[in-house]
Amino acid sequence: MYLYDEVGSALFEVITALPEYGVTRAEERVLKAHAADIVNALPANVKVAELGSGSGRKTRRILEALCKKQPTAYYPIEISRTALQLCHRELGDIERVSIVGYERDYLAGLAEVSAKRNKGEHLLVLFLGSTIGNFARLAATKFLRSIRGMLEPGDALLLGTDLIKPLPALIAAYDDPIGVTAAFNLNLLARINRELGGDFPLDAFEHVARFNPDARSIEMHLRAKRPLSVRVRDADLHVDFEQGETIWSESSHKYAAEEVAPIAADAGFECTHQWRDEEWQFAESLLVAR
Ligand code: TRP
Repeated sequence: MYLYDEVGSALFEVITALPEYGVTRAEERVLKAHAADIVNALPANVKVAELGSGSGRKTRRILEALCKKQPTAYYPIEISRTALQLCHRELGDIERVSIVGYERDYLAGLAEVSAKRNKGEHLLVLFLGSTIGNFARLAATKFLRSIRGMLEPGDALLLGTDLIKPLPALIAAYDDPIGVTAAFNLNLLARINRELGGDFPLDAFEHVARFNPDARSIEMHLRAKRPLSVRVRDADLHVDFEQGETIWSESSHKYAAEEVAPIAADAGFECTHQWRDEEWQFAESLLVAR
């Protein structure tokens, strides 16, 4: 969540447009090709909550398909105010769709949305962009279980997962040649400097993306190019770095398409449908609360 301040959210929007980062386009293709099937697989009378809507561009497909069947309430849940504003602008023109944004973290926002629904209304929760991959595997199951805890039987979760693919494409997606992802990562340190009175010399750190075969994840690190010593005033923190030592800032776990159903089952969902993008290898799974 610390990646997505105003600067980070803007950089992430650029990442989604990079030729090397196929994740967003793959998901857009899946949603474009299958929006009608997805909507037809849902129970009648659904409200839509989205965990981390970003700009909302991908969601348009779902909302357009859904509003043909019913007037639709859409609740984007976002910690980024910038993203919520983008989302209103991006989706505000769709007829029969009303948007109410929640500037909250995922579970707090979902609890509020879930509590506000009326009898007979079902929820469709969108968790797209393979954000589930940013959780460690066990934490991902635990998180799905927490979501399930706020749902009623028959409610649905549409889950996007980036799939395991050959290494060069995987690495390039997180280490693009013009350095947008590097800037996105380094912004964490810039943000510590800005908001916590840190004194990280940004030019002394470089972005590293590496694949961890045991975890099946891409790890993002910030590597000290020389020995140095950093203070973060407001955190009362002093850290010494050896040359080559890294700060492990983020991970993006990759899944096999067949892995989703058993994980979902473990969390109290049935995986009833899965749609895939073959070009990039991405899966959209519809999980129904049991
Ligand atoms: N959910 C995205 C992913 O894991 C987030 C992301 C994209 C990301 N690029 C990144 C996170 C670079 C950290 C660094 O693919």
